[in-house]
Amino acid sequence: MTPDNAQTTTHDAEHDGRNDAIKIYVNGRIVPKDEATVSVYDSGFMLGDGMWEGLRLYNGVWAFFEEHMDRFFNSMKSVSLESGLTPDGVLKILNDTAAANDMTTDAHCRLMVTRGRKAKPFQHPSLSRFGPTIVAIIEHSKPAETLRTRGIRLATVPQVRGLPMSQDAKYNSHSKLNCVIACLQAEQAGADEGLMLDPHGFVNTTNACNFFIVRRGEVWTSTGDYCMNGVTRQKVIDLCHANGIPVREKNYSLYETYGADEAFLTGTFGAQTPVAEIDGKPIGEGEGAGPVTQRIRGLYKDAVAAYVAERKGVAV
Ligand SMILES: Cc1ncc(COP(=O)(O)O)c(C=O)c1O
Repeated sequence: MTPDNAQTTTHDAEHDGRNDAIKIYVNGRIVPKDEATVSVYDSGFMLGDGMWEGLRLYNGVWAFFEEHMDRFFNSMKSVSLESGLTPDGVLKILNDTAAANDMTTDAHCRLMVTRGRKAKPFQHPSLSRFGPTIVAIIEHSKPAETLRTRGIRLATVPQVRGLPMSQDAKYNSHSKLNCVIACLQAEQAGADEGLMLDPHGFVNTTNACNFFIVRRGEVWTSTGDYCMNGVTRQKVIDLCHANGIPVREKNYSLYETYGADEAFLTGTFGAQTPVAEIDGKPIGEGEGAGPVTQRIRGLYKDAVAAYVAERKGVAV
């Protein structure tokens, strides 16, 4: 049970004791959790020099695998991180690790690739001489019910999403310090997670998820210029277009956000998570997801089911 005043995070999962004894993929071996270690010289540990991807397993299928791989390989190429992997190779790692853990559904993977072990404890990428470090952690994972029933409390934070020429928010890099600072600021303001603005003051994203509002029957999200190119974000936009729900990617401010009828977050882990309040102001009426968010949740669930059925060659 979560006490009423307890902190909620967008990645809260129901407790599952099986996660104490999972097996983890580390550089070609699938080993018990306690033995899954990397070097203190690892580029990821020292510098946050690595990329990761979060994927979810539904009935034996990794949802929207191609989109995740597109982002992952684009990110690695952009920072000249040579993983030696292919999407098929990644799929084999994920499937072998899930099988070693007897997992077929309600599982979440954090796939991580870093520039690997360094010869000396300094920044220069040429010191990473021993090949990449590749890790896949897959946990039994069911988003906590409170996420759906109570919603998330957000606080607007001073930490902003930067311009793409500093550290482009599209990199799912190991270093998430920008987001961690935002989350700390929100927590210290008494909220669960941070709502981040862009450099011009428009509402952009949260520290861990993409952000949407519903206003007068329209779904709005940021232009996408300063936020993670979320797979779930794009699915929601596509589903709105396909189902006659007006959707706009646009600049908007806190003024329109506070006055929204509904707000929700998107991410692979929680799909669509309702927002209960922002800066102490309640959003929408009552607890949980509003009608448009609920409709989008249903459409997304169907889209995942259709994807899984197609991969399995089953009629929906
Ligand atoms: C900062 C941030 N925003 C949004 C997302 C959601 O992206 P996706 O929908 O692809 O899981 C993530 C997930 O990696 C993230 O790290």
